Amino acid sequence: MKKFKLFSLSIAAIFLLGTFMACGGDQEAEGADDQNTDQTEETTETTTTEVATGDFSAGKAIYETNCMVCHQESGLGVEGTFPPLAKSDYLLADKARAILQTLQGAKEPITVNGVEYPGSVMTIVKLENQQTVDVVNYILNSWGNEAGTVTLDDVKEANAAK
Ligand code: HEC
Repeated sequence: MKKFKLFSLSIAAIFLLGTFMACGGDQEAEGADDQNTDQTEETTETTTTEVATGDFSAGKAIYETNCMVCHQESGLGVEGTFPPLAKSDYLLADKARAILQTLQGAKEPITVNGVEYPGSVMTIVKLENQQTVDVVNYILNSWGNEAGTVTLDDVKEANAAK
């Protein structure tokens, strides 16, 4: 019994010591965390401002008329047939390519979030340059996407490079 008590005492001591050391460590880590958090906060602020000030309602209307039938209101598409735009690795990786895709679809099979889709299936009515800007900015900033914006010049460039 006595042995057992001693044993649990030493366990308690080790535990306390452990907690103490962990606290010390934590403080250092917290210090570092603080710095990290500051940096993250700065980055988040810039992104949030860009997203918050953007009015994507024009793009939303264009999306609903021209894209939603395939890519769905949720932006999730139909797996294997119409790829998702929501959290799409393909869309979010390259804004210039997103414009081209919106203008003319893909010319070759593409892989979106690990699923392959045949190219040249996307049929859309021809959009004005400003409509393209609006709809691309809408899909880049909807359903949790926060991928920045494109400009009229970007779309003109894409049209010239087609
Ligand atoms: C008739 C169905 C259909 C319509 C309408 C359509 N898409 Fe697509 N979309 C597809 C298919 C199928 C693909 C897969 C590859 C391909 O054929 O281009 C695709 C691929 C994409 C991609 C790249 C892949 C991804 O998921 O990130 C983007 C971006 C995109 N579409 C945007 C749009 C926008 C914006 C509109 C409206 C202006 C639109 N699409 C209208 C069927 C459609």
